[in-house]
Amino acid sequence: MPGDSDPTVAELIAARPDLSIHAMDGLLLSGIPLNAVADALGTPTWVYSADAMRARFGALAAALERAGVGAHIHYAVKANDHLAILRVFAEAGAGADVVSEGELLRVRAAGVAPGRIVFSGVGKTARELRLAMTEDIAQINIESAEELAQVSAIAAALGRTARVALRVNPDIDAGTHAKISTGRAGDKFGIPAADVTALYARAAGLPFVRPVGLAVHIGSQIATMAPYRAAYARVAELVRALRAAGHAVDTLDCGGGLGIGYRDEPLPGPAALAGAIAGAFRDLDVGLIVEPGRWLIGPAGLLLAEVVLVKHAGARRFVVLDAAMNDLVRPSMYDAWHGIVPLGAAEAAGTAEPADIVGPICESGDTFARNRALPPLAPGARVAILDAGAYGAVMSSVYNARPLAAAAMIDAGRWAVIRDRQPVEALWRDERIPDWLP
Ligand code: LLP
Repeated sequence: MPGDSDPTVAELIAARPDLSIHAMDGLLLSGIPLNAVADALGTPTWVYSADAMRARFGALAAALERAGVGAHIHYAVKANDHLAILRVFAEAGAGADVVSEGELLRVRAAGVAPGRIVFSGVGKTARELRLAMTEDIAQINIESAEELAQVSAIAAALGRTARVALRVNPDIDAGTHAKISTGRAGDKFGIPAADVTALYARAAGLPFVRPVGLAVHIGSQIATMAPYRAAYARVAELVRALRAAGHAVDTLDCGGGLGIGYRDEPLPGPAALAGAIAGAFRDLDVGLIVEPGRWLIGPAGLLLAEVVLVKHAGARRFVVLDAAMNDLVRPSMYDAWHGIVPLGAAEAAGTAEPADIVGPICESGDTFARNRALPPLAPGARVAILDAGAYGAVMSSVYNARPLAAAAMIDAGRWAVIRDRQPVEALWRDERIPDWLP
């Protein structure tokens, strides 16, 4: 039987303010018929709503404001690094959290000022650190004593002062999927809390390094506030200890990780996050940063796909789509649940029966949903896989020689193509056959 807690198609639409169903046009995203986008671009195609993105950014900013926390929002670029998406968030006032040369150059191309960029990540190369320093970005989040030494050497060679924050590993279990939990002692991230004070002192003594504060990020798709509160309490303790030792602590990077209700499960949301930040840091008189990715862009995007065929095998109904795990890997990688909604109004209203929604790739893991209660879907019918704006397109591959999907953006009643479907020849354009092969 389908999971008892699964929302129905009607409930999924009702719970998402940007989705609606029109008797003739079918499923709409921010007022635009998704069938029109699929008619023009084919499938699979990503569709993002700039209206939804701005509304979400505004809601988070307002929650931080109401809690009396003047925190700057630095969008975590890894969630979706498309230039148009970066531009929407930058215009709304976001800075950026980047983790690679590519992300740094992307946000610069999208118009984010260097002073609004933070560089995170456990293994920045010398080349990436040099770029960060020559671009003079706001701060580099350091993840180890070894990295501090490397930053120091590069800064000295460039004759520049590197502003660094030390990323604390608070040894807190965020209670999320093991593959996206980052704040436990055994995880590769951050500096053990016990080592932070000594390393901060070492950083303060380096001629080309200026420690500006601390950073913490304990995981992604976090569903409860307790781990946040525990981590922030540990960071606040460290700030007091550092200040007592005579160090300046100007900024705290509170990380990202705020979960979204893929299954319409009730989750804390921005007000709770703002409350936890205020509770721990309000009286510390310190500049604050948050770096959410998923919460800002996840629900603002979806993946359109078309039914290739419906296969009956014994009692099972397999609905085979033209989208696959190479497009959206989250279900196979993290057993993630994504809502699936037919685009046609008649189909959306049909009687639901269990189905397995799968892609055409030669792996059983290429499954978007098992035992999902869905109305009849004939070949040629289209569906939207919901909440796919974050960690969707950015994690795509071309496995099975399947080109990268097209993408469109909806904004204030109009829409535009923001990525052409990759031509199939582009898959081997950069490949060379050695000339000794006949
Ligand atoms: N800051 C740092 C240092 C991070 O490592 C991450 C995410 C974020 C911020 C943003 O986290 P968010 O607010 O988006 O949860 N591919 C996985 C998620 C990986 C998250 C990696 N780090 C997924 O599809 O669930």
